[in-house]
Amino acid sequence: MRKSIVAGNWKMNGNLAANAELVKGLLSTRSGGDNVDVLVCPPAVYIPQVAALLQGSDISLGAQNASAFEKGAYTGDLSLCMLAEFGVQYVILGHSERRALFGEDDAQVADKFHAVVAAGATPIVCVGETLQERQAGQTLEVVSRQLRAVLEVADKAKLADAVVAYEPVWAIGTGLTATPEQAQEVHQALRALIAEYDAAAALKVRILYGGSVTADSAAQLFEKPDIDGGLVGGASLKAKDFLAICSAAAGASANG
Ligand code: PGA
Repeated sequence: MRKSIVAGNWKMNGNLAANAELVKGLLSTRSGGDNVDVLVCPPAVYIPQVAALLQGSDISLGAQNASAFEKGAYTGDLSLCMLAEFGVQYVILGHSERRALFGEDDAQVADKFHAVVAAGATPIVCVGETLQERQAGQTLEVVSRQLRAVLEVADKAKLADAVVAYEPVWAIGTGLTATPEQAQEVHQALRALIAEYDAAAALKVRILYGGSVTADSAAQLFEKPDIDGGLVGGASLKAKDFLAICSAAAGASANG
């Protein structure tokens, strides 16, 4: 059985006061996390603040991006060593906003994947199709191409610990959620693709769904056999909503 995981992607939101309030809300009402791994990914500049606030809790810290390079003349970038110094354990890679707005391509995502794993952190690799691609019947082709780029460079010994997030672009921040059946179809295909590289790892890799997950939609999504939790944007900015999603994931683990 795979343990569920819920990651909060705060994107470029928050400030010192709002972050403190949000983390306080998460810590004051969160109860028992044995069945679910929970992490939050604040904007990089707030990582030290949130790391301090989370100290001693069972909520982990993630980054929204990282450089594939160790150090040097990469203005504006952050290395994995720097992130590790502040307790970052997970790194989101290839989010569709980075692909669409910052031109990240499959090869760069693959390089970053390699670097994250080498640094001992856990990559959360995002894949997902646009509405146009879905309507053209290209969903599985697109997400397979995106994931295959990473699988080609993945160290087999570490693959089982990686996390994949299926995030249909048309569902991100739009209020449109993939139906549990639509999501399951893609998750199943992604797991089958991983199995082509390593059958044992495919059973262990956790595949998250992301795209307008709410407290209301979470439970039905997480019931599906290949959906192991969520990558949550908007709803992760409200402690009550995010905790409800974490509880739904814990429930799915317990029943799984
Ligand atoms: P959303 O974002 O939950 O606001 O749709 C998800 C994501 O982009 O990771």
